[in-house]
Amino acid sequence: MNRISFLVLAAAVGALGAATVVAPFARSHGGAATQGATAADVIPTASAAQPDDAVARGRYVVAIADCNGCHTPGFAQNGGTTPERERLVGDAIGWQGPWGTTYAPNLRLFFAAVDEDAWLATARQREFLPPMPTSSLRAMSDDDLRAVYRYVRSIGAAGVPAPAHLPPGRVAAGPVVAFPAPPQ
Ligand code: HEC
Repeated sequence: MNRISFLVLAAAVGALGAATVVAPFARSHGGAATQGATAADVIPTASAAQPDDAVARGRYVVAIADCNGCHTPGFAQNGGTTPERERLVGDAIGWQGPWGTTYAPNLRLFFAAVDEDAWLATARQREFLPPMPTSSLRAMSDDDLRAVYRYVRSIGAAGVPAPAHLPPGRVAAGPVVAFPAPPQ
């Protein structure tokens, strides 16, 4: 595992440690799964605030897939303590390699501008450049992808666009994380 992967993984583990982020999903999921439970057990989720369930699930998926690790400025360095209202606004740190320089875009603006089905098509088909973990999106169920969409929409549009992708050979104006040449 290279150093970058390790840092990203470490950030994901840090996010998982935030029990308050995970707990609401665990509760509602448990409630939905216990069909044979007594009325008292199911009352909190019985009238199935379906959208709220999706939002909580989306928050959980975003936490375990560490979307914030790249799409939230400083998140990987501050142990995931960025307040939710400031998350996923994109970052001006460049990721440099044979693909040129990429920037993690502002997902608050991206999701505000796309409809849910178009998002599913993007997640299934677009060839994202590194280090965007395309495999992570491809591994998600449709329900997970819809939940991510509803969660990010629920926190609303915010921030400004991240810098645009620079093709190979173009010098980046700001700081970059430079990937070493791949092993021969
Ligand atoms: C390791 C860093 C990293 C992580 C982790 C990461 N992304 Fe990305 N993401 C990027 C980069 C860099 C791009 C730009 C890729 C490109 O230019 O093709 C990107 C692009 C995107 C885009 C396209 C947005 C647009 O405006 O076109 C979406 C949507 C997205 N990521 C969602 C996610 C989600 C959801 C997660 C969590 C499952 C996630 N990303 C995790 C780095 C990351």
